[in-house]
Parts: sequence; C-alpha cells; structure tokens
Amino acid sequence: MKRSHSYKFRSEKKKSKGLPILLSIIGVLLIGSVVTWLGLNNWDVDKSYQRIVNLINEKNEQPNPIVEEEEPFLPVEDEEIVEEEPTPEEAIQYIEGQELPTEPTYIDGVLIANKKHPLPSTFAPGESEEARAAFEEMAAAALLEEYSLTAFSTYRSFDYQTELYNRYVERDGVEEADRYSARPGYSEHQTGLAFDIGEVNQEQHFASSSFGDTEAGKWLAENAHLYGFIMRYPEGKESITGYMYEAWHYRYVGIEMAKDIYENQGTLEEYLGV
Ligand code: DAL
Ligand code: ZN
Repeated sequence: MKRSHSYKFRSEKKKSKGLPILLSIIGVLLIGSVVTWLGLNNWDVDKSYQRIVNLINEKNEQPNPIVEEEEPFLPVEDEEIVEEEPTPEEAIQYIEGQELPTEPTYIDGVLIANKKHPLPSTFAPGESEEARAAFEEMAAAALLEEYSLTAFSTYRSFDYQTELYNRYVERDGVEEADRYSARPGYSEHQTGLAFDIGEVNQEQHFASSSFGDTEAGKWLAENAHLYGFIMRYPEGKESITGYMYEAWHYRYVGIEMAKDIYENQGTLEEYLGV
C-alpha cells in the first residue's frame, strides 16, 4: 500500500511539471515558425500575411490556376535597380492625356503593346492558340528536365487589367504601380501573347524576381527562345521596356524573332525600333 501511494504521488508531480514544459515547447515552435516565415518573405509583414491568406484561399478555391497575378513582391534587388535607372525623362513613359486608339499597332506585322503603343479597350482576342501550343511544347521539353512549368496568367481583358492596376495604385501609389503593372489598354496581356510562367507547386516564386534564381527559371531564360518566347522585361532594361525586371513574363513572338532577340540580349522595343 505504501509503495503504491508513493508511486501515485510521483506520477502526479510529473504531470504538473509536464504541462508548462509542453506549453513552452509549443510557444518556442510558434515563435520560431513566425520568425522563419517572416524571414522567407524578406521580413515583409504585409507580404507574409498576404501569402498565408493566399494559401488559405488556394485551399478553399482549388483548383484555380489563375493566381492573383503580378503580385509586386518588391525584393531588395529590385530596389537596387531603381537607383541605377536613368531619370524618368529618359525612360519610356506614358504620353499623358493619350487616348486609346481604335486599332492596335502592328510594326512589320508584329503586335506591340507598351507605354507608347496602347490597345483599343475593345481589343479582346483571347489567349493566342499559337502561343498556347508553343507553351505546351516548351513545357513538355522542360518536363524532360524535371521542371513542371505552368502559365498562371495569360490573356487578360481590358476590364480585368483595370481592376488589377487600380488595386496596385491603391496599395503602392501610381509611380510605383506604373513600374510593374500596365495601365488599362497598355498591357501586353490584353494581346493574348503574354504568358506569366512559374513552376507547379512553387507559388512562392510566382510573379517574383526570385523565379529567375530558380533552376526552372534559369532553364526558361535559356530555352524559351527555342519555342518562340522572349523574356519581355529583362533586368536592367526598364528604361527601354518601361517595366522593372519580370523573370516570369514571357511574350510569344515566334522562333525566328525570339532567337534574334535572345542572341542579341535585346528587347522587343529594340528589335522593332520603337
Ligand atoms: N506586368 C505587366 C507589365 C502588365 O501588367 O502587363
Ligand atoms: Zn505578365
């Protein structure tokens, strides 16, 4: 009897110590997770929060291949580019007060949409079948290298671009939004020839310059021209293209033109001389 009583006492004592220890471990794990998550998101609290919301939404609304695209994750590298950029006067800019045209601009048969060459608001060709076929071919080739590519945003209507752009202006102001999001009527996505590309299950790199540092992003940068795509907004070309580096935004131009632009490390503006 005595022995049994004493055993019970020890066991109760153990129990009362165990709870605080368990709570401490949970606390440390929670704090550790929060710090790690913030670190993974460049210590940006808003971005960290938004990514959690996105993850929850993705779970609830799956499958939805069109992410809230062009999320302007502005990492440190992009801020450094700003300082090297020429003054806005030298860079390609919108023509203030310009009205949208009634016809799109073709130069030597090539459709162009940039800050100087807008599209009619009624221009709504949908996603290009030719570009989609080229993308599928490219994705199949990438898969042989074990990169599973996905196009998370392609054709965007005038109205959808309006929504997106306004949202970014509200968040970051006109000046900053103009560096990564086209005003309605000026987006290449409205041509149906622009493909925002990422890797399946790597949503953290969607619409982020970090995609360019991934193996899949590097493969794409080196091989897209073989399938007729060019990286439309390369690093260091903001003064020519009008937009900051977008490692994910590719434009279908056909193999011949894509090879030429790739080999000369050029841009569509330089190729067309606009
Ligand atoms: N992010 C590109 C510039 C667009 O909005 O069309
Ligand atoms: Zn894009």
